[in-house]
Amino acid sequence: MIDLTVELGERSYPVVVGGGARHRLLEVLPTGARRAAIVTQEAVQVPVDPGVEHRTFLIDDGEEAKCMETVEELCRSFSRWGLTRNDVVVAVGGGVVTDTAGFAAAVYHRGVPVIHVATTLLAQVDAAIGGKTGVNLPEGKNLVGAFWQPSAVLCDLETLETLPPAEYRSGLGEMAKYAFLGVTGLRDLSLEEAVAACVRCKAEVVAVDEREGGRRALLNYGHTLAHALETAGQYDLRHGEAVAIGLVFAARLAHRLGRVGAERVDEHRRLVLAYELPTEVPEGADPEALYELMTKDKKATDRCTFILDGPAGLEVVPGVAKDVVLDVLGGAA
Ligand code: GLY
Repeated sequence: MIDLTVELGERSYPVVVGGGARHRLLEVLPTGARRAAIVTQEAVQVPVDPGVEHRTFLIDDGEEAKCMETVEELCRSFSRWGLTRNDVVVAVGGGVVTDTAGFAAAVYHRGVPVIHVATTLLAQVDAAIGGKTGVNLPEGKNLVGAFWQPSAVLCDLETLETLPPAEYRSGLGEMAKYAFLGVTGLRDLSLEEAVAACVRCKAEVVAVDEREGGRRALLNYGHTLAHALETAGQYDLRHGEAVAIGLVFAARLAHRLGRVGAERVDEHRRLVLAYELPTEVPEGADPEALYELMTKDKKATDRCTFILDGPAGLEVVPGVAKDVVLDVLGGAA
């Protein structure tokens, strides 16, 4: 078991990574909590014991459940049960659960403590760490949310044993991102060490830029194209698969702009392939349509911002010309 800390002054919190980490729940429960509202999904089936009076609240599966109606339902159920602001919400699941329950915890009674028991690889290396919570609106993903740091995060590797392979691979897409944020030798590490290395990397970034005023944006490496592919809705890609394509695309774009050499592009491709993830934009994709989604703006604009690799590592690079982006999207190296 590896114990880590997200250092945020008085809001610092432990992250435990390892097989059976969920059994540390009682130990990290906020002092004085008399009740725990466990928020999970039917399919998750990861029992937890908070050691105090508790009740389970189920939310539906999938991105559709990550919505305001679910938050309202949760808050109303908490209230009917009598959950107070001294009690605790325990989110048990992947990113949909931690984002939604985290947001419900952020707004219920203007904020109650939340503990995330992350049961997917994606949630363990990304979603559950760093305090971003929120839900989707019909107008777009994650449009409503709050920064609400958990009191603790338990990344139980046992829960990954029953994760569908496609779901696990999706987490590897987020994991691959960390290789370019400075985590070296990721593929030589045990799963426990690899998850911990990603958490440590994210924790360091969040500690210096909790509210994404600067450095935290680098955690979105590969995500500009990934979000466009996901929003386009026609490609049947999981988040991590879309990120994998986005990472290789970002490397090719950086190469095209003279920021990195061809070997760095190969490095991106090799890592993504080693994780058995896709490297290329799906066949038949329309570069113009993807470009429009990347600028999040239907009005004509001939510049776009990306996170790109370069001599000084990853940086936010504004003003990348549309014709260059279209060229690289269209397959030019
Ligand atoms: N998933 C990116 C972040 O937490 O900032």
